[in-house]
Amino acid sequence: MCGIVGYIGHREAYPIILKGLKRLEYRGYDSAGIALYDGTDIKLSKTKGKVADLETKLEQEISTSGSLGIGHTRWATHGVPNDVNSHPHYSNSGDLVIIHNGIIENYESLKKELIKRGYTFKSDTDTEVLVNLIEDVKKNENTKLGKAVQIALNQVVGAYAIAVFDKNKPNEIVVARLGSPLAIGIGEDEFFIASDASPFIEYTKNAIYLEDEEMAVVRRHKGVKIRKIKDDSLVDPYVQALKLNLEQIEKGGYDHFMLKEIYEQPNAILDTFRGRLLTNEAIIKMAGVEDNMKKFLNANRIIVVACGTSWHAGLVSEYIFEDLARIPVEVEYASEFRYRNPIITENDVVIAISQSGETADTLAAIKLAKSKGAFVFGVCNVVGSSIARETHAGAYTHAGPEIGVASTKAFTTQITVLTLIALRLARAKGTISSSDYRHHLIELELIPAKVKKALESDAYVKTVAAIYKDVHNFLYLGRGYNFPVALEGALKLKEISYIHAEGYPAAEMKHGPIALIDENMPIVVIATKKGHYEKVVSNIQEIKSRKGKIIGIVTEGDQQVKALADHVIEVPETIESLTPLLTTIPLQLLSYHIALMLGKNVDQPRNLAKAVTVE
Ligand code: M6R
Repeated sequence: MCGIVGYIGHREAYPIILKGLKRLEYRGYDSAGIALYDGTDIKLSKTKGKVADLETKLEQEISTSGSLGIGHTRWATHGVPNDVNSHPHYSNSGDLVIIHNGIIENYESLKKELIKRGYTFKSDTDTEVLVNLIEDVKKNENTKLGKAVQIALNQVVGAYAIAVFDKNKPNEIVVARLGSPLAIGIGEDEFFIASDASPFIEYTKNAIYLEDEEMAVVRRHKGVKIRKIKDDSLVDPYVQALKLNLEQIEKGGYDHFMLKEIYEQPNAILDTFRGRLLTNEAIIKMAGVEDNMKKFLNANRIIVVACGTSWHAGLVSEYIFEDLARIPVEVEYASEFRYRNPIITENDVVIAISQSGETADTLAAIKLAKSKGAFVFGVCNVVGSSIARETHAGAYTHAGPEIGVASTKAFTTQITVLTLIALRLARAKGTISSSDYRHHLIELELIPAKVKKALESDAYVKTVAAIYKDVHNFLYLGRGYNFPVALEGALKLKEISYIHAEGYPAAEMKHGPIALIDENMPIVVIATKKGHYEKVVSNIQEIKSRKGKIIGIVTEGDQQVKALADHVIEVPETIESLTPLLTTIPLQLLSYHIALMLGKNVDQPRNLAKAVTVE
């Protein structure tokens, strides 16, 4: 879980790498470093902190010239974030320099062996072990860098995306991948290496995504040669045309990516619909579902595997699938599922949900389900990501790049895709009447405009945020479809403002959390008209009689909750199953404003990273 960037070609490498690292900071931001080849030697600078800190330090320390270089932005695994543990890492001779995203699990035994052979280590990292292992192989086998990398990687257990070069052969970079993403941008007589395509999108639209267990030697003026790491066989490069554009990955006038992404939701949901929701014809078209309809229709149950916000979207889908398509659903944390001994049969459909498509636990859960014969369907945002490729079939959310670490549009577009699938299956199974089906399609089509309307609460949400920003605890309550939204609201607040928050099913409150309620406790209650309204109103009464502060998320025009609550934030009316798409909006805004008022780094909260590619 780090970002890696490399360049070899005819331009100055430094500005390309620096800008690339800034774009990849969502993957980790506790330290950063760059190594450049200046025509005679390697110049390396690295530091604890963000890429902006590196920029200041580097420009004072080293010359920035050179047309070959590599850079890294880190999310620490082995070794605390400090200057020494930052990447790139030199080999003992100083000839090789490496960047690495991933974990070398057997690094301790490899390190012991290398120490016996006289190697010394400056850092606590597994990466420094790897670069010295490569150097050791290179010397002992008297071989080229590419071959040495291949032999070394065959001794390694773990996950990696690496880029390494040798100052004595400054016309090539060797890269390899297992479990962590790696893209090679193919320009005019120049090549770009990166964890995703964002660092090179303005230079080329052509990219090769390495598959697991592949490595490539990228040669100046010569091109890219890809091999299988295990058996040395050559692989035909598959060059993809990228659809991403620069505007999509920049802030576009917003102060933060998170805010931009919150506001992008009406369009993101429209993009999710595009070509799929044909309301006039009363058709939902999803190739991944159509092609595998039998699997879905014969499914004994659906098992959803996901983490974090994606898991919350999975919980919403449990209600949708059971309600509409009458298919039993289990929603599993991928990290638990993969280490249980889950009972999975060939008649199970596993749906893996992931924004990044790179989450290590979700990926492992998919592999486990596949090994037991299940059909695995992916719901991912990042096109060509590991999960998208590992699953048998899938549907992209088409939300566009999500850069803010806190997921926002990923959540609403995941729910949208899952709703489309559930409706399509319900129609195929005959578990929904044609009038109800049409009604759902019409309501769904109205959602982008209603999300836009829900966003109009922003200014008022900000005033509510100002009142509660200094509290230490929050409770979020919801029932039915809105219980997962309560969980998601609490997660959003925790992760970016560092305020403790818990989400609970509203009715569970009286089984414990009610003890927390006093005049200092703000409680966000989702109380829309559709969905156990009267029951939730009773829960609100219970809170009120204990003097809790009530922030109600209500349907436009609601009077009953308004009379009881301290604040109400209105969202437009819709059918019950679609309420999460609206009620989540003010909760995203609330967490955003509180975090901002507390001076937190909204887009890059501490200790987190956008893609969690370690378990
Ligand atoms: O990329 P994924 O959807 O697989 O990521 C899973 C979680 O790490 C992610 O949803 C995380 O909880 C969010 N960033 C929280 O906002």
